[in-house]
Amino acid sequence: MNYTAKMLRNDALKGKTIVVTGGGSGLGKSMTTYFMELGANVIITSRNIEKLERVKTELETKTGSKCLALACDVRNIEEVEAMHEKAIKTFGKVDVLLNNAAGNFISPTERLSANAFDTIIDIVLKGTKNCTLTFGKHWIDTKQTNTSVLNIVTTYAWTGSAYVVPSATAKAGVLAMTRSLAVEWAKYGMRFNAIAPGPFPTKGAWDRLLPEDIRDKFDLAKKVPLKRVGEHQELSNLAAYLVSDFSAYMNGEVITIDGGEWLKGAGQMNLLEQIPETLWDQLEAAIRSKKRN
Ligand code: HXC
Ligand code: NAP
Repeated sequence: MNYTAKMLRNDALKGKTIVVTGGGSGLGKSMTTYFMELGANVIITSRNIEKLERVKTELETKTGSKCLALACDVRNIEEVEAMHEKAIKTFGKVDVLLNNAAGNFISPTERLSANAFDTIIDIVLKGTKNCTLTFGKHWIDTKQTNTSVLNIVTTYAWTGSAYVVPSATAKAGVLAMTRSLAVEWAKYGMRFNAIAPGPFPTKGAWDRLLPEDIRDKFDLAKKVPLKRVGEHQELSNLAAYLVSDFSAYMNGEVITIDGGEWLKGAGQMNLLEQIPETLWDQLEAAIRSKKRN
């Protein structure tokens, strides 16, 4: 089985211009790479312009497509508006906004200062709002259609999760925004979808969610029914599909790509997986014997 193969045909995103927030590292960089391989122009943004410039050079050389690196802290609306203006000035238009930038770390909630909680909400929820309002209003004003917004959330956007409460709270808000605007702004030719990834190893996430001291104790692959973590190309394939015209009828959807991880935690009897095969004959006999009690 080759689940790391590239899914779409070579020119699938030719003519599209895509903004990827947090596009200089981790999953944002992987998705950007594939978008460029498929012929898209990509604007990568984050707070660290040196890192973005390095990635721009690397990916332009690798793919032959165009990349623009722009410093932009998504928490600050003026920086988002300036980034949007420069993107339009360079490429004439933007077709897709990928809200990927995030902040997160594990912590018992009672240890968080008000500012620590705000920091995560501001990057994830306010940042997504700042970008979505800026790009959406422009698309409405200029009557540009066939545009879309793709938001990266998590599966705990709907289950909630202990020890990452600001992130869970913010991602739940992003999911609500995705579904709300999918309906409200469809009339302007915009689509809104989300991806909820399970564990996909990245330095940014692993340093903050699975620090070295606990890394050996928590093997995330074991939590996944498919017994492995995700490969970046699997996520990039899904993201490329969702920003392409092939998904023109997909709107308001959140697609989970987690090997079944969150459902394993949810199903009441899923823990019976621990019962050895040999015990099932005995258990079946015991259960059948109770039939007429
Ligand atoms: C408690 C902490 C803390 C910690 C920071 N703070 N780290 N509190 N425990 N470990 C507090 C600080 O003391 C401060 O509060 C406030 O948070 C802001 O901290 P700063 O360092 O000033 O913020 P900033 O420089 O803006 O950095 C933001 C950051 C940082 C989120 C703290 O980690 C960052 O830049 N992250 C970006 C990348 C990232 O997080 N990637 C992971 C995404 S993974 P006070 O009160 O002292 O001022 C992801 C996966 C989801 O989302 C699902 C996985 C399965
Ligand atoms: P990552 O590499 O740490 O990505 C986060 C990105 O956000 C970085 O490029 C960072 O760049 C940028 N960023 C942070 N704060 C910002 C700000 N204020 N303004 C602009 N950009 C900012 O982690 P990742 O694992 O690839 O995460 C990418 C996305 O996937 C996130 O939305 C995350 O919640 C989601 N996700 C990841 C996993 C996983 O297993 N990896 C699982 C579920 C969901 P700078 O530091 O340069 O600003």
